Amino acid sequence: MAILTSDHNRVLNHELRQRIMNADEAAALVRNGDQIGMSGFTGSGYPKEFPVALASRMEREHAAGTPLRVNVLTGASTGPELDGALAKANGMQFRTPYQSDPTVRKRINDGDMEYADIHLSHMAQFMDYGFLGKLDMAVIEVAAVYEDGRAIPSTSLGNNKSWIESAERIILEVNSWQSIELEGMHDVYYGLDLPPRREPIPLTRAGQRIGSPYLHIPLEKVVAVIETNSPDRNTAFKEPDQASRQIAGHILEFLDWEVKKGRMPVDLLPIQSGVGNIANAVLFGLEQGKFHNLTAYTEVIQDGMIGLIKSGKMISASATAFSLGPDMIKEVYGNLRNYRRNIVLRTQDISNNPGIIRRLGVISMNGMIEADIYGNVNSTHIMGSKIMNGIGGSGDFARNAYLSIFMAPSQAAKGTISTIVPMVSHVDHTEHDAQVLVTERGLADLRGLSPKQRARLIMEKCAGDDFRPLLEDYFARALKEGNGMHTPHILNEAHGFHQRYLKTGKMQA
Ligand code: COA
Repeated sequence: MAILTSDHNRVLNHELRQRIMNADEAAALVRNGDQIGMSGFTGSGYPKEFPVALASRMEREHAAGTPLRVNVLTGASTGPELDGALAKANGMQFRTPYQSDPTVRKRINDGDMEYADIHLSHMAQFMDYGFLGKLDMAVIEVAAVYEDGRAIPSTSLGNNKSWIESAERIILEVNSWQSIELEGMHDVYYGLDLPPRREPIPLTRAGQRIGSPYLHIPLEKVVAVIETNSPDRNTAFKEPDQASRQIAGHILEFLDWEVKKGRMPVDLLPIQSGVGNIANAVLFGLEQGKFHNLTAYTEVIQDGMIGLIKSGKMISASATAFSLGPDMIKEVYGNLRNYRRNIVLRTQDISNNPGIIRRLGVISMNGMIEADIYGNVNSTHIMGSKIMNGIGGSGDFARNAYLSIFMAPSQAAKGTISTIVPMVSHVDHTEHDAQVLVTERGLADLRGLSPKQRARLIMEKCAGDDFRPLLEDYFARALKEGNGMHTPHILNEAHGFHQRYLKTGKMQA
């Protein structure tokens, strides 16, 4: 492995050096209606100058009455310079997959742009199979490019390999803010083929390396190289609140029980931990807990996972991106040489691969917006209609995990909303995929239960005090009206909690 020594010249290929230009010149290469695949995953490794330059060009063109809007495909959410800037300019006509930017969310919910919420593991194959149409351009942040076109990837891999392979034209942002010591941290698997030629992926351990540390850039497709020096921007995690700590406590107690029952090894199974503060609270809980030799097969490396690695409790972690708060960014990006031993970053079609998740027996823990008394889960929509973020990788993991856990406080929005409802207002994960529900009140292990058994347990263990009597009343009447039906519901009342909230601002009767 050749090691770059100079941080000043990270474009070692002579021809590519001829194509270095500023972001405004590169943004001028975009045509109205282009479909652009950009790097970026949860605030890591996204292009920082190109989208800002494109957004200001859009604003100028729009002011002059000239249309300039594009389709934007990424790994997942990005930073304010990408999603924020393009949404502000109303420059996206279509966006996929996961996003979490407030302006993008508003644009989608105001009907200004289209949004397709696709499982993260599906994105690359959708592109490779041609389901998403042609990719006009890829804009990818990398840490450096060697003479032969091998690039040291940035702090996320996401769909970069697929965008690079599919795009007609490529723009590289070579970011010298990213450490050169990222070299060797990635594992880019080049063995996937389209069915029926697809062979099994030879990955049997979370930390195993099966591919190349580099992205291979077809140099002839590169139309511009932009040299940047800009930081990743992830938001800081809040200190876990009381409810998050209680939820974490229930989960840790449950895992302990599963080990005692012999249903899980003493070192647990690879952990997948979703986005947000509850997930981090579970990881902090594990750090204080008694489990050792932990592994992670997950989507993002969060602050809590770094704590586990530092304390020696976690021996290896596989993900597609970093998602660290500012303090942890300093800690990790400054010591990548050490963290490289424990962390491997993969493309998201491998980090979230359903076959591998099933093979490794992952313990999946994800946040939810609401669940119903039968165990169907809504992760994405507020009151059935407004998108929050997107399904992300939660579906990839939940359906295929060894143990699939969904968690939320029992009441949201200052107690006005019950996160346990008679019927979810939108379904992301069906009753068949959610095995365990947890709120600060308790944990409901739904495995092997019938719908009516699940309903009784969810109401008892998870529902908030304000809403349990209302749920019990609904269930009792549904049982009576249904006369023993399999999944009792009163259809014209099933969304009564939501209707009441929309009418009165609270779900309480
Ligand atoms: N009805 C209406 N609003 C609700 C709600 C409900 N049932 N439950 C939560 N909310 C609101 C909260 O009030 C909060 O609003 P605010 O931002 O205005 O304060 C917001 O939703 C977020 O709630 P919070 O409790 O902070 O949740 P979180 O940060 O733990 O995120 C999800 C929860 C579900 C939005 C988040 O986990 C997510 O996007 N999940 C889908 C993707 C995923 O699971 N990815 C990981 C896979 S690897």
